[in-house]
Amino acid sequence: MVKAVVAGASGGIGQPLSLLLKSCQQVDELALYDVVNTPGVAADLSHISTPAIVTGYLPGDDGLKKALTGADIVVIPAGIPRKPNMTRDDLFKINAGIVQGLIEGVAQHCPKAYILVISNPVNSTVPIAAEVLKRAGVFDPKRLFGVTTLDVVRAETFVASIVGEKVPTKNTIPVIGGHSGETIVPLFSQAKPSVSIPSDKLDALVNRVQFGGDEVVKAKDGGGSATLSMAYAGFRFAEKVIKAVKGEKGLVEPSFMYLPGISGGDSIVKATGLEFFSVPIELGPNGAEKAIDVVSSANDHEKKLLEACYAALKGNISKGVEFVQNPP
Ligand code: NAD
Ligand code: LMR
Repeated sequence: MVKAVVAGASGGIGQPLSLLLKSCQQVDELALYDVVNTPGVAADLSHISTPAIVTGYLPGDDGLKKALTGADIVVIPAGIPRKPNMTRDDLFKINAGIVQGLIEGVAQHCPKAYILVISNPVNSTVPIAAEVLKRAGVFDPKRLFGVTTLDVVRAETFVASIVGEKVPTKNTIPVIGGHSGETIVPLFSQAKPSVSIPSDKLDALVNRVQFGGDEVVKAKDGGGSATLSMAYAGFRFAEKVIKAVKGEKGLVEPSFMYLPGISGGDSIVKATGLEFFSVPIELGPNGAEKAIDVVSSANDHEKKLLEACYAALKGNISKGVEFVQNPP
């Protein structure tokens, strides 16, 4: 039995993500939580003839508690999205408190659940979540995931268009670091099977992966940021976690995690100087089974990108930790 919860379920990501989770045969119960509209979204989804029983909750009447109790996996796309000329860090002011409140609920009502944080800025909201869970005495680093799958999905799509492949998912490309601008580092040298990218196209390709989010924000012109591609990416990651927990082997996907608590993580922390970092994670029955070190095998070009990533990410991480340790 798998109970999945979406917090922020009525939003641009929340609705299509909930649809995909409702379509997933492995999910038995789907609880939708938001500050608005969940009764309607839940009623709508509940007519779909798949097994999951759908319920919707609002904040009143112990709604968060009811949504979270018994949850195995909690996916969090709650919070405001960017508008043109905003950075993800500009969202911190509002989203930090939203994520903090929801994670406090998780700590209280479903401390063993796998938590997937989508809300931006991921580089800070995941450290916030970790701090809240630590304070509540229930932090398990293997169960807290920052969702960076959209960066991987973009790398797959954009590289395919450059090398002329018709099937974008043919290549596995590790995208590591964080989830904003220069903290996003695609390692095309480690693509499997390998890809040959013309040297005059590499910088533009890397830049497009790093700033793919801006492309969507600009095109939506004030209407928000990526929602449908994010729902696809969020579901892809959630489904892998669900399958791994049920015993399927060989499932790997990058995720932004607290690495000291994960097998293989210490050497990556030593190499990067950062405790939170996204690397490919081998998933297993208890969540993150192993952090795979792709940092030490980066080529010289990628090492330069990584230096810029470390500098930016360090500040984002401390900002999140600080928010919980010394509240504003
Ligand atoms: P949206 O505004 O369409 O939806 C957000 C939803 O969150 C709304 O329905 C809102 O009512 C709800 N919400 C607000 N406060 C809440 C609370 N305390 N509890 C529960 N729900 C609450 O925004 P969106 O486009 O769905 O984006 C959501 C977030 O995801 C943004 O922060 C965005 O930047 C982020 N995002 C992350 C990635 C990624 O790769 N990790 C990709 C795209 C978007
Ligand atoms: C993305 O990468 O699309 C998201 O992080 C949303 C954004 O603000 O760009």
